[in-house]
Amino acid sequence: MSGGETYYITTPIYYVNDKPHIGHAYTTLACDVLARFKRLGGTEVKFLTGTDEHGQKVEKSALAAGLSPQALVDANSANFRDLASHIGASNDDFIRTTEPRHIAACQDLWRRLIEGGHIYLGHYEGWYSVRDEAFYGSDEVTTGPSGDKVGPTGAPVEWVKEPSYFFRLSAWQDRLLAYYEANPDCIAPQSRRNEVISFVKRGLQDVSVSRTSFSWGIPVPNDPDHIMYVWLDALTNYIAALGFPRQDGDYARFWPADLHMVGKDILRFHAVYWPAFLLAADLEPPKRIFAHGWWTNEGQKISKSLGNVIDPLTLIAKYGLDQVRYFLLRELPFGNDGDFSHRAMVSRMNSDLANDYGNLAQRVLSMIGKNCGGKVPQAGPLIDADEALLAGAYGMLAKVREALDQQLFHEGLETIWTVIRAANAYVDHQAPWALKKSDPARMETVLWVLAETVRLLALMTLAYMPDASARLLDQLAVATDKRDFSAFRPEDALAAGIILPSPTGVFPRYVDAEGEG
Ligand code: MSP
Repeated sequence: MSGGETYYITTPIYYVNDKPHIGHAYTTLACDVLARFKRLGGTEVKFLTGTDEHGQKVEKSALAAGLSPQALVDANSANFRDLASHIGASNDDFIRTTEPRHIAACQDLWRRLIEGGHIYLGHYEGWYSVRDEAFYGSDEVTTGPSGDKVGPTGAPVEWVKEPSYFFRLSAWQDRLLAYYEANPDCIAPQSRRNEVISFVKRGLQDVSVSRTSFSWGIPVPNDPDHIMYVWLDALTNYIAALGFPRQDGDYARFWPADLHMVGKDILRFHAVYWPAFLLAADLEPPKRIFAHGWWTNEGQKISKSLGNVIDPLTLIAKYGLDQVRYFLLRELPFGNDGDFSHRAMVSRMNSDLANDYGNLAQRVLSMIGKNCGGKVPQAGPLIDADEALLAGAYGMLAKVREALDQQLFHEGLETIWTVIRAANAYVDHQAPWALKKSDPARMETVLWVLAETVRLLALMTLAYMPDASARLLDQLAVATDKRDFSAFRPEDALAAGIILPSPTGVFPRYVDAEGEG
């Protein structure tokens, strides 16, 4: 595949002191759909996720649990690795910041920054939030409800005073603005891009990039009293996983990243600090950073103290994996905040999946089972209604691709559902059950048009709902080497006479214990 198109996509690396929750699942899932969609189109993909294991927060948690930091991160990192597999993520790599490859990359990046004169030794005095692992200016700190000082996120802050290395971020304002200007698509959505640009225009202060008051971190080369600030450490994972400091191999093939997917809370680190570090080290900045929104739970902010954290594994056990994947990417325009509610989940499951998509497939396959001897029917001459449905179905690929190239997952699904709804209306109008006696040849044509439409739909939903879509393709006896977008064309249409397995539903209705739904 070398030489062909490549696509490098990353999730943030997750803090290990939390248990995996819906927010983590959401970011990884969004990346997974893109990674799968690109692979189906023949692109060579590298999809990276992993865990962010250093910092004061981890050191404190380990101490409180009576564990060594390493023991704590080993145990907790495994939860995130498991989460990735439970939500069906097709990541190609999983990086941990305690791995030697990552440490080597950070130390090399540091050396480059020192050699270039971008880092100097000074003194830090100011507010720090351990929970956010972030420094805050006095203008960002207020008095919280309990009388303690808190940062803009509500997290407690403490006054710290220590020797520290600084990165000369203040020198990068114009070059960052030039980078945003020259790359109009590098930060999305547009509203977030505007926020970043106005933040940078207000002027940048140098950032503290080392700590001395604790030790769970990557040692600064040639000054072992200091460890690197956890964000400089963490961001470097994106190049460490490509073999940096080597710049051949994967690095040459995949850098700069096509997409860093992040939540809105960590956009500034990715869109300001990270490009500045890279430019200063003479490396290319990423091509695009997308900041998605946050989920609430039944209208409430999700927080450990409220005890309303949504465990993705519980959701999957309750509703099914493909259903959860569908819901999270359909319910709200990607980029916006949204609310998770049982009611909304069940409504999507029952109306979009069971009634619209599932019912279409089930009706078509069972009519073929009963009326066509369980074989792909033979199409006769096509009439306008047949051509119109097929044209809509073949037209999906370009439209969904365009939507996904902008991370508009909901629009991709809306395009697919336009075809599903058209196919259901076509079934009703053509009434193949009535043709059985009056015009069996026409019935075969109608059922063939529908079966071919379902084949195209199943290919189109493979990236979003891999299991259910594969089961639909099984029921249409589509060969495994015909399950990608190269088969999305009339030349690969279902061939008459092929024996089909007996149909089974793939999108069950959800019925609540209370009878709801
Ligand atoms: N370790 C840093 C990232 C370093 S990347 C170089 C970090 N980790 S995190 O575990 O706290 O957060 C990871 C992601 O989860 C972020 O993108 C964040 O936006 C996302 N979410 C956390 N809670 C969320 C919701 N309630 N809803 C949606 N996403 C949320 O930050």
